[in-house]
Amino acid sequence: MSKFNHAIIEKNSILLLVLSLVVVAIGGLVEIVPTFLIKTTIEDVKGMRPYSPLELKGRDIYIREGCYLCHSQMVRSLRSEVERYGHYSLAAESMYDHPFQWGSKRTGPDLARVGGKYSDEWHRLHMENPRQVVPESVMPGYPFLARTPLDYRHIEDDMKALIVTGVPYTDEEVANAKADLEAQVNPDADTEGLTKRYPKAVVRDFDGDPKKISELDALVAYLQMLGTLVDFNAYDGADFNQ
Ligand code: HEC
Repeated sequence: MSKFNHAIIEKNSILLLVLSLVVVAIGGLVEIVPTFLIKTTIEDVKGMRPYSPLELKGRDIYIREGCYLCHSQMVRSLRSEVERYGHYSLAAESMYDHPFQWGSKRTGPDLARVGGKYSDEWHRLHMENPRQVVPESVMPGYPFLARTPLDYRHIEDDMKALIVTGVPYTDEEVANAKADLEAQVNPDADTEGLTKRYPKAVVRDFDGDPKKISELDALVAYLQMLGTLVDFNAYDGADFNQ
């Protein structure tokens, strides 16, 4: 009986075509649909939060200057990488990055976990001229960052644009954006609101010049937080869920 049915399909090209498409579509759906159910592909990781306004501006400068052309931000799960850089990167660690900064080339080292590795002073010297701290470095200097005042007039709009892409900034965070940005570079400021909205935000005068908020302030604030949000000591290595 089934042999007979199959003969009908094989002799009718249109029926064969339609049924072939149905079979192929099932395979396609099984592969594609899960990627749209993003909540199930990115695990919920404790500690991850959107960037503070200052870190966000620093990230903009990182992108503007093309740092991603020489630096990756993605520690692969290979033994050599984990020994050098630390825990391999989790998908959730890039969940608020639009666009993500995984990069594809490492002329310099991976930066996914560079936060806290060096002092601000080291970053200041390194950004001015990398050869002041690493004599054999081939990285270009960016001395103008320390001289250039940070333009954060549109910080609220930056955050609103990210909300459209799915970053969960609240109305309160947008309303306080400028104040939070200014508080993060001023150790004398009232930073209670800032650290409540952005836990683990480092408050410092990053560029060593308390008189102005420079592009270097923002970039160093960004570099110093990279990879510091998730506390890997609190996990046994297998379960990252809250
Ligand atoms: C032409 C390639 C190149 C570009 C562009 C570049 N870097 Fe580098 N970077 C390097 C190299 C090579 C090193 C390793 C030597 C050194 O420390 O200077 C490095 C090292 C670093 C380090 C120290 C990392 C560590 O773990 O020791 C930081 C931080 C850094 N770069 C940040 C930046 C930032 C921020 C930018 C953009 C403003 C940038 N780099 C642009 C090549 C580059």
